[in-house]
Amino acid sequence: MSRISMADRPLPPLFEAYPRLAMTISWMSIGDWPTPVMHAKSFSADVGVPNFYVKREDLSHAICGGNKPRGLEFLLADARAKDRASILTFSSVGSHHICRTAWHARRIGMDTTAVVVDQAMARYVRANLLFGLQAGARYVHANYFTIVPRSVHELLSHRNWRHGHPPYFIPPGGTSPRACLGHVSAALELKRQVDAGALPEPDCIYVPMGSMGTAAGLLLGVRLAGLKCRVVGVAVSYRWYCTPGRAARLARATLALMRRHDPSVPPVRISASDIDVVPTALGEGYARFTESSIEWAERMRKGEGLDMDGTYGAKTLDGAMQYISNRHLRGMTHLFWHTFHALSPPEPDESLVSRIPARFRRYLHDAPQPLDARLIQ
Ligand SMILES: Cc1ncc(COP(=O)(O)O)c(C=O)c1O
Repeated sequence: MSRISMADRPLPPLFEAYPRLAMTISWMSIGDWPTPVMHAKSFSADVGVPNFYVKREDLSHAICGGNKPRGLEFLLADARAKDRASILTFSSVGSHHICRTAWHARRIGMDTTAVVVDQAMARYVRANLLFGLQAGARYVHANYFTIVPRSVHELLSHRNWRHGHPPYFIPPGGTSPRACLGHVSAALELKRQVDAGALPEPDCIYVPMGSMGTAAGLLLGVRLAGLKCRVVGVAVSYRWYCTPGRAARLARATLALMRRHDPSVPPVRISASDIDVVPTALGEGYARFTESSIEWAERMRKGEGLDMDGTYGAKTLDGAMQYISNRHLRGMTHLFWHTFHALSPPEPDESLVSRIPARFRRYLHDAPQPLDARLIQ
């Protein structure tokens, strides 16, 4: 029996390639696929890299897009198949993952509880918090010591149970082997775009590494698609966390999940040497903007009208340009995975503000870090 819903939408390329997966892996349609690819001609000319392309993951959904909907198509469908009606997840307060999860979960009648830690202030943090609250998310404050016990507490608390079922747990960043399936599918989608002539086969794909689901899924996907390109991850969360070994392990776990459901999926070998990680664009840490990355974001906006965020996109662009320059790759074909979609948040009216835990009210008023003023929101 098929586990697919909303089947009037096209099937993901993953299910077209491996139809047996569609029999047992739940999936629901959320995004607008395929996301377009564009040749960033003005930026290319400006920076002296003639073949610089952009994969517009920002256009994955008109209201609530970016890179997260790809994983949510599998996670929320799985939650529904397991009769769960609430979601529990954790992350930082301005996380894109939380507000996207809350918004898309709400559309299918699920509530979200998010256990969150503080983070550096930026305008997108405020926007995401308001957006998540409007989508009905409940935010619970934690710090790095209490986040795990608080999450366990919320998991066990009957407040979050629905119809006798515990909440469906989604790991930070929405990353798990199941979510990575969405990014495997994205690589198969890219292969179709290459075959159709939308772009030459890229030599390198640059992708932000936060929780690493996007990078790991692409790493596996390009291999299964038979693409020769190298995945280059740019560390944007923690240097100790964003390692080639960890990304390769996640890709292998995703492959193992696929092969459990369909043994005909080829047992490709993936090791840490299959991915490069650029650790030098992170600056002082997660969500702390850097001067050089903001400069690259400004050049991209000037050339192509594309808006970057300072946490993921701008640093990834910085990392990509470092990689290209250090390795003398200007003549090759490069693809930038553009994952940031700016949301339109609601006005913070009384009913919304009253639901913000006191600890988080400061995100409505605090000044953003100074470099934020150079980004468009
Ligand atoms: C806009 C944006 N880009 C990139 C990423 C990184 O993706 P991943 O967590 O899959 O590494 C995130 C994760 O939160 C994100 O929100």
